[in-house]
Amino acid sequence: MAQQCPLTFVMSLAMLLNVAFSANFSDFFQPLWAPDHIATEGDHINLSLDTVSGCGFESRSKYLFGKASMQIKLVEGDSAGTVTAFYMSSEGPNHDELDFEFLGNVSGEPYLVQTNVYVNGSGNREQRHSLWFDPTLDFHTYSLFWNRRYIVFLVDGIPMRVFANKEENGVVYPKSQAMSIRGSVWNADDWATQGGRVRTNWSHSPFVSTFRSFEIDACELSPETDDVEAKCGVSRQFWWDKPSLRELNRHQSHQLKWVRRKHLVYDYCKDVARFTELPRECIN
Ligand SMILES: *[C@@H]1O[C@H](CO)[C@@H](O)[C@H](O)[C@H]1NC(C)=O
Ligand SMILES: *[C@@H]1O[C@H](CO)[C@@H](O)[C@H](O)[C@H]1NC(C)=O
Ligand SMILES: *[C@@H]1O[C@H](CO)[C@@H](O)[C@H](O)[C@H]1NC(C)=O
Ligand SMILES: *[C@@H]1O[C@H](CO)[C@@H](O)[C@H](O)[C@H]1NC(C)=O
Ligand SMILES: *[C@@H]1O[C@H](CO)[C@@H](O)[C@H](O)[C@H]1NC(C)=O
Repeated sequence: MAQQCPLTFVMSLAMLLNVAFSANFSDFFQPLWAPDHIATEGDHINLSLDTVSGCGFESRSKYLFGKASMQIKLVEGDSAGTVTAFYMSSEGPNHDELDFEFLGNVSGEPYLVQTNVYVNGSGNREQRHSLWFDPTLDFHTYSLFWNRRYIVFLVDGIPMRVFANKEENGVVYPKSQAMSIRGSVWNADDWATQGGRVRTNWSHSPFVSTFRSFEIDACELSPETDDVEAKCGVSRQFWWDKPSLRELNRHQSHQLKWVRRKHLVYDYCKDVARFTELPRECIN
């Protein structure tokens, strides 16, 4: 496919892609709620949660396929009850959504990362992982890679989760709804920390997570004008459709196995108490 194209053609396509580094907040984003709880400086975005409100932002554009990355430093100290989220979502009751949700904890106890995939309005596809570092000490890079074959959740470039396209088994796959890129901090103390047993201790508020260094290399759709199929459809040759990206390479497969062996703490696909019949994508 792509490698058969004359070089100039490939290059002109590459120039259609959007790659952004270290831009200011308003170049890419707008508040989703509680703008007064969002503080920005250069490409740093601080999101605060206090007794009044959490807050969130979203990209001005929507994207289909490609890769989005954000560096995040999570609420430090006592973050019990709080959730920091980095996610992509389309609109409406039949929306698609890809989530990283960082579940806070009491001081000294580890965060968990919950990932989820909504397709056509249905989620309930949670996995939870511990991390191999303290996500409050430094910035780490969290990425979503998405093409027609699979979705990969990456942490510092290491695949944490793969959601494969199993349309041939009758499982709907997100491929036609463009999604905006979002970040938020909110109170979820009814479930987030130790199953809801530990509530948010508001004497430690505000709870602040910092986002920075947003990168996007995806098919961009401006809200009003663009036709999804014409702009991002199969007839166009995008880098994420390269044959080499049809599955994880051997190194990435090893990394994924390592993450699952060492850091997976919950997988909905194994939760026979919850599902009398496991979801179809869980069956190989
Ligand atoms: C961001 O905004 C500041 C001032 O508001 C400006 O000096 C700087 O050049 C901007 N940076 C980018 C990448 O646009
Ligand atoms: C964001 O929070 C960090 C750490 O609390 C602080 O050093 C920085 O000044 C804050 N930035 C803005 C724009 O408020
Ligand atoms: C999405 O869900 C709606 C019902 O909410 C259904 O009518 C439609 O067929 C579904 N789409 C796909 C692709 O399964
Ligand atoms: C919080 O810490 C406890 C105790 O180490 C642990 O069981 C739990 O999984 C941690 N994470 C969350 C989000 O509750
Ligand atoms: C909340 O934090 C304060 C200050 O650290 C502490 O004195 C108090 O015991 C905490 N409350 C709970 C319910 O843990």
